[in-house]
Amino acid sequence: MEKYTNYSKIIAGTMTWGSWGKQLTTREMIDLMHHCLDIDISTFDHADIYGDYTNEIEFGVAFNQSNIDRASIQLISKCGIQHTGKTRNNKVKHYNYSKEYIVWSAEQSLQKLKTEYLDLFLLHRPSPLMQPEEVAEAISQLRKDGKIKDFGVSNFTPSQIALLETEIPVMGNQVEFSLTADAVMYDGTLDDILANKRFGMAWSPLGSYFRKDDEQTERIKKVFTDFQEKYGTNESQLLLAWLMQHPARIHPVVGTANPDRLKDSVKANSIKLELEDWFEMLAASQGHVVP
Ligand SMILES: NC(=O)c1ccc[n+]([C@@H]2O[C@H](COP(=O)([O-])OP(=O)(O)OC[C@H]3O[C@@H](n4cnc5c(N)ncnc54)[C@H](OP(=O)(O)O)[C@@H]3O)[C@@H](O)[C@H]2O)c1
Repeated sequence: MEKYTNYSKIIAGTMTWGSWGKQLTTREMIDLMHHCLDIDISTFDHADIYGDYTNEIEFGVAFNQSNIDRASIQLISKCGIQHTGKTRNNKVKHYNYSKEYIVWSAEQSLQKLKTEYLDLFLLHRPSPLMQPEEVAEAISQLRKDGKIKDFGVSNFTPSQIALLETEIPVMGNQVEFSLTADAVMYDGTLDDILANKRFGMAWSPLGSYFRKDDEQTERIKKVFTDFQEKYGTNESQLLLAWLMQHPARIHPVVGTANPDRLKDSVKANSIKLELEDWFEMLAASQGHVVP
């Protein structure tokens, strides 16, 4: 049974809505938000760094003008990566998980997104210098003040989560997972999500399929020729259906800002691949059948 039904199965990733990609206008962002809600995508994934710390501002302006009820959407954001760039005076890219920085970063996200609370707040990447007690203090304070509802991580290994959980429960983990980036199926990450009933999210759920023109893509394409007809679907839907069939019940964070492709993504959730077809896709991606 799906546990995290308060988040949409397909999550809209906003990383390329602004200056890191499509450079959508306020009007276009508003229209895209409404479109997402119309097709049952209610969860939006952010990070403080997107657009060199500007994406949340642009989304917030659009959200503020959209007349969308805050309670009808869920906002995810992340903290911890300290980029070098125009907007921050950092000497070197690094991570910061001090109590003060975590609290400050969450408050910045709230201000920029023009909202009172984040539904889910994630530590973006594990830091070797992260101290579980400090993280726990920051998160407990944010929660007590009503500024965040859920707390999770991104790109963490099971042992890094276990370390944090000596001080504070971790509700979810957002990781790279796709047919062409499947390491998390074998290194314990998805086992941890499943065993501990965490909210699992996959970034870059389409993997390298549309990005690389190599032998791996060629092999997958060949298999897809038949499957597209068999399942009456397209390539990106097959990639998403494959991912969603994993028992860890992963929610794909899709990166497209194209309305039709967003709609296709939602439809992918109703495709059920036959067992052997799932393994045939895996074999095409890995270049060999399972041992
Ligand atoms: N936690 C983390 O560390 C982390 C890291 C990276 C990303 N993220 C999150 O994950 C989200 C998604 O990442 P992603 O953008 O890499 O995901 P993705 O959904 O795997 O890739 C999206 C890209 O594929 C293209 N695409 C989709 N369907 C296509 C098709 N049928 N034909 C050709 N191209 C197609 C899209 O182009 P169009 O836009 O033109 O459709 C877009 O450029 C981000 O927005 C962000 O929220 C998180």
